[in-house]
Amino acid sequence: MTTTPPIVVLGGGLMGLAIAHQLARRGHAVRVISRNRNEAAGFVAAGMLAPHAEGLSGQLLTLGERSLALIPQWVAQIEHDSGLTCGLRMSGIVVPFATEDDSRRHPTAALGQSLTRKALEQEVPGLAPHWQAGLLFEQDGQIDNRRQLMRALEKACVSLGVQFLEGAEVQALSRHSDSQELQQISLRTAEGEVQHHPCRMAVLCSGAWSQKLVPELPIFPVKGQMLSLQGPRKALKRVIFGPGTYLVPREDGLIVVGATSERSAGFTAGLTPDGQSQLQAGIQDLLPMAGSWPPMERWWGFRPCTPDEGPLLGPGPIGGLWLACGHHRNGVLLAAITADLLANAITDAWLGAPDDDLLKAFHWGRFQKPPHHNV
Ligand code: GLY
Repeated sequence: MTTTPPIVVLGGGLMGLAIAHQLARRGHAVRVISRNRNEAAGFVAAGMLAPHAEGLSGQLLTLGERSLALIPQWVAQIEHDSGLTCGLRMSGIVVPFATEDDSRRHPTAALGQSLTRKALEQEVPGLAPHWQAGLLFEQDGQIDNRRQLMRALEKACVSLGVQFLEGAEVQALSRHSDSQELQQISLRTAEGEVQHHPCRMAVLCSGAWSQKLVPELPIFPVKGQMLSLQGPRKALKRVIFGPGTYLVPREDGLIVVGATSERSAGFTAGLTPDGQSQLQAGIQDLLPMAGSWPPMERWWGFRPCTPDEGPLLGPGPIGGLWLACGHHRNGVLLAAITADLLANAITDAWLGAPDDDLLKAFHWGRFQKPPHHNV
């Protein structure tokens, strides 16, 4: 009897876990290779589910809205398979503006509810007085990615038989020189042993580090620093999404505050005084009373960004290697649709190339230079 080799998921962050979970649910054997779970952007994010508040447009808005629609069912599956809750809250998100004109110019303004200053005060008591208009997106929400979702997803994967190779750093993906098909994965185990594993099908979920394994991919890190505050429970019922700073209130009164967006930091680790004072100034500018709430934690991470800030989804430049990376600011929102699209495409791969419009729109080839023609 022959057994099918497992599909290898490269990366144990949010995308890796979400795809492993959906593949396992569709009956595939799956192995996740994870270097260091703590680096995963899924632990860093504030967990906003905010295609409208973030003002997405074009195909990215469509992708975000499709994911938002899938999330209740996706979370129910994770909670069922793990026995843990994920902290999904459709709390709505308020975006404040200095003027009504600014509010009208927001790309998704037509999909929100306009708020006057008086209505803004009702939605966000204590909002700084210079915010004179706003939009309420009741359809947007949040999930407790850092404390609940990541753990629940991992447990759901384990309960469905997904294997994990933890602490292993993938060092190279080798391709057949003639066919360009994936041939082998070379990795260094947690114990320092270098191993070579034959592999014909893998999914690249290596976040900001994806380009280290596949140099063709235009993915670079955008560092984000964050902090959390302990507010009075129910002090804030909505997420507030200001320019540059947002406040995300969890059920228990913890307020997650994000985030810097540092394109020139590369992979420089650590908090910086500038980054932390930017967050502090952002809090003061949005909700002055929150300036006196006790800080709890501070952390940072690396968003995986692409030149158009949209993800890379679907077949990659190596045959048998699928891509699910480059989600930039929207990884938590897009995890549900990414896992669904990829798991379906991989399951149906024997039928031919996937023809889903969204997979086509987010194919990595959109960044390839057109072939040079001699004249
Ligand atoms: N989604 C918000 C951020 O990346 O900061």
